[in-house]
Amino acid sequence: MDTNVRPENMTRITTPELAKAFIDEQVEALRAQIGDKKVLLALSGGVDSSVVAALLIKAVGKQLVCVHVNHGLMRKGESEQVIKVFGESLGANLIYIDATDRFLDLLAGVSEPETKRKIIGGEFIKVFDEESAKLEGISFLAQGTIYPDILESKDGVKAHHNVGGLPEDVKFELVEPVKLLFKDEVRVVGEALGLPHNMVYRQPFPGPGLGVRCLGAITRDRLNALREADAILREEFDKNGLAGKVWQYFISVPDFKSVGVKDGVRYEGWPAIIRAVNTVDAMSATIEEIPYELLHKITDRITHEVPGINRVVYDLTPKPIGTIEWE
Ligand code: XMP
Repeated sequence: MDTNVRPENMTRITTPELAKAFIDEQVEALRAQIGDKKVLLALSGGVDSSVVAALLIKAVGKQLVCVHVNHGLMRKGESEQVIKVFGESLGANLIYIDATDRFLDLLAGVSEPETKRKIIGGEFIKVFDEESAKLEGISFLAQGTIYPDILESKDGVKAHHNVGGLPEDVKFELVEPVKLLFKDEVRVVGEALGLPHNMVYRQPFPGPGLGVRCLGAITRDRLNALREADAILREEFDKNGLAGKVWQYFISVPDFKSVGVKDGVRYEGWPAIIRAVNTVDAMSATIEEIPYELLHKITDRITHEVPGINRVVYDLTPKPIGTIEWE
């Protein structure tokens, strides 16, 4: 039997009861597979790796070693949430690595989008490898592979390796407890495991993170401005009931300035571009009709609260012809 094929009669996990049955079954299977050995997991804070971490903590507790690499391109509060949820609440064996300087130093002056993606992906593997080499007695590598990943790699669709996509020649045996599940099922299982709702239902976020939204060569001041503006957009979407409704929403900041006026003097700043799209499969996307009142509120907050930003614009371009990301 090919263990990478979802059996036709497998019930879709849609309720807490079905999730609980899946969890019980997996906990037993994981204990049988792992025994008293140690498992390593790259925990990004994304839905899939978070659910795998929570499952493994339930099954083998401290035999799981989670490594969270902060590449400096996370959204505001994300690494903090990983530490709080896994390190503190769930008592995981968590290694936190702040590799911000390594990534930003390598990215300095690099403006070509594909080169930026490659640097981020390559450095991620390097940092993770260095950390795992320091650990002793690891026998297994856990991964948040889900069923669409298996289907896409069979079709040869997946062109780019994500950050968190690890090298092919791994020396560990793989542990992939959610590999036959679809995304909606992973979320139901995550909630049943007690993970925070905002973690389980978070919008898609690219592996290279804010690196694809800080357009051109990344600088620390512009990256900070982007992170703060993005946090304001997310907060306003949360408060106004759009967070659970809109598929993906974020800010991009290009690397040019325009003239403005602040406190009666000339003020040169970057524009913050709002993107808010709806889609089923990210192949095409439509634009969310954000109420004008809310757009004014967001504009007012970003231009007053975020140093370096002096304009806010709303991108009305559907995909096609625009891609979802600006890079
Ligand atoms: P585009 O910009 O191609 O994006 O319309 C489609 C979806 O893919 C996400 N995206 C990425 N995800 N690594 C990722 O993991 C990447 O390099 C990357 N680039 C784009 C994007 O956020 C959108 O959801």
